[in-house]
Amino acid sequence: MDGRFFHLDDHLTRVQQSCAKMRLRFPIPREEIKRLLVEMVARSGIRDAFVQIMVTRGLEGVRESVLTKREIEDLKNNLYMFITPYIWVMEPEMQLTGGDAVIARTVRRTPPGAFDPTVKNLQSWCHFSLPNHGDANITEGSGFNIVCFKDEVLHTADPGVLEGITRKSVIEIAHTNGHEVRLETVPVDLAYHSDEMFMCTTAGGVMPITYLDKKPVKDSKIGPITKKIWDRYWAMHYDDAYSFEIDYDNAEQKTPSEISVKEDSHGQENRSVMEVSKL
Ligand SMILES: Cc1ncc(COP(=O)(O)O)c(C=O)c1O
Repeated sequence: MDGRFFHLDDHLTRVQQSCAKMRLRFPIPREEIKRLLVEMVARSGIRDAFVQIMVTRGLEGVRESVLTKREIEDLKNNLYMFITPYIWVMEPEMQLTGGDAVIARTVRRTPPGAFDPTVKNLQSWCHFSLPNHGDANITEGSGFNIVCFKDEVLHTADPGVLEGITRKSVIEIAHTNGHEVRLETVPVDLAYHSDEMFMCTTAGGVMPITYLDKKPVKDSKIGPITKKIWDRYWAMHYDDAYSFEIDYDNAEQKTPSEISVKEDSHGQENRSVMEVSKL
């Protein structure tokens, strides 16, 4: 945001760990990915950018065959990196008054036993719907974690959700502000009786919820704890401990579409495609 890369290393670490859980690997070294991403953002000229990276199994079919661990690891995994203008899960205007969320009743989140939720997987429901695993506890939304504040304690679901990097910042801020944070099951009932509530994600930051199932959360105003966390979260974007500046001036201001071919640690030839879209 504003020409600075925020929490890049944390995101790369989570993707790398997720790859390991899925028996995938980065086709090119991590440091090279980092260098390319910075270059792509600089060349795009986009100062408020949304950066996505994806690793796929590759172009060989795995459906019919039973592959050994070695065979799976020998597949040529692909890497896709996209730079687009920033995406807001909740538009900034709505963040001034708060959003209207619903507790999902008929749709459940894929249970952790079916797909590891610590590997990012977005599932689409209606806009700000808060699903469960078929019990009476809320989990996470499609692209965001959920935090409830009740009786001076912040509550957020764990385990069974993505370990959000925004949530990590929220926890750090809450601890600095002297608040207790509990990572444990969050009953739907606690959400209904929260003093304050918000969702959090890289794509939008700290997003207050002021209505739940059409009923006000407390007095339907954004509460002081959420406000403080919101302020500090955006201030962190200018803090060198969490972000660094991108050098746009020395980047070629053109839209590149380049292919670099490199050998990875397995001696395989892999392709990384640079695509920068100016929407
Ligand atoms: C399922 C899910 N939960 C939570 C999050 C929030 O994670 P982060 O704060 O790292 O963006 C995301 C982000 O896309 C997500 O897809």
